[in-house]
Amino acid sequence: MSWRHLAVATEAVLRAGRIQKERYASGVAIEYKGEIDLVTEVDRACELAILETIRSRYPAHDIVTEETDLARTGSRHVWFVDPLDGTVNFAHSYPFFCASVALAVDGELVAGAVFDPMRDELFSAEKGAGAHLNGRRLKVTSTEQLIESLVITGFPYDLHERLEERLRPFNRLMGLARAVRRDGSAALDLCYVGAGRADGFWEVILKPWDMHAGRLVVEEAGGRATRLDGAPLGLGPDGVVATNGRLHEALVEALRDEAVTLV
Ligand code: IPD
Ligand code: CA
Ligand code: CA
Repeated sequence: MSWRHLAVATEAVLRAGRIQKERYASGVAIEYKGEIDLVTEVDRACELAILETIRSRYPAHDIVTEETDLARTGSRHVWFVDPLDGTVNFAHSYPFFCASVALAVDGELVAGAVFDPMRDELFSAEKGAGAHLNGRRLKVTSTEQLIESLVITGFPYDLHERLEERLRPFNRLMGLARAVRRDGSAALDLCYVGAGRADGFWEVILKPWDMHAGRLVVEEAGGRATRLDGAPLGLGPDGVVATNGRLHEALVEALRDEAVTLV
């Protein structure tokens, strides 16, 4: 059944991506959720399109989505929706953002789709059936040493309040990896690990909608995604380390004592 679910996830992110591309660089109304945490009218329009797509097929499924608190009914099927991942980029016309949709059944991720409308790149993954980019099968890198790796990270919106603490893992990796990047969309960052464009990714705290689709892309491309300490991830908010697998222990070790998950 999960190919049908994946088709719905795909349709949803493509619809949202079309809205993002149409509205890109046109100037959008911004509201503030926090000092640096934004939401735009495009986040809301994308959310509406995605919810409509899912609900028209699966009216009884539960949906966890970033911009609206929806009641849960205890359905076995739970969708995770980030209508626009990379909102700050979008608001600044920095072309790195996406829509991300994942589905868990009985607590297990089974399908995920992430669409980057500026590059026309659709990343998708189905449990047990691999990860793909525009239909091409994905595979993680084979890099084994941190010093030969390019890793990506991101920062939560409490950065200004906890600057010293949030920069500690970043500083550590700057001294250990070949390169560290910060691009501003956790969902795409994870897909880049799956696509072999980066060797690893970490972020000290992410929301379920930021990570689940990208996480499945990493796993189905042959990589690993865990909590910061290497323990299995659940479906709630958490710190994340995702790698090609070979680098996993080294990245977990490098982050030990440096990265603290605070919600
Ligand atoms: C954010 C992005 C960013 C990450 C933040 C997320 P949003 O999501 O994924 O890269 O560092 O932690 O909250 O707010 O653009 O949907
Ligand atoms: Ca997000
Ligand atoms: Ca978002």
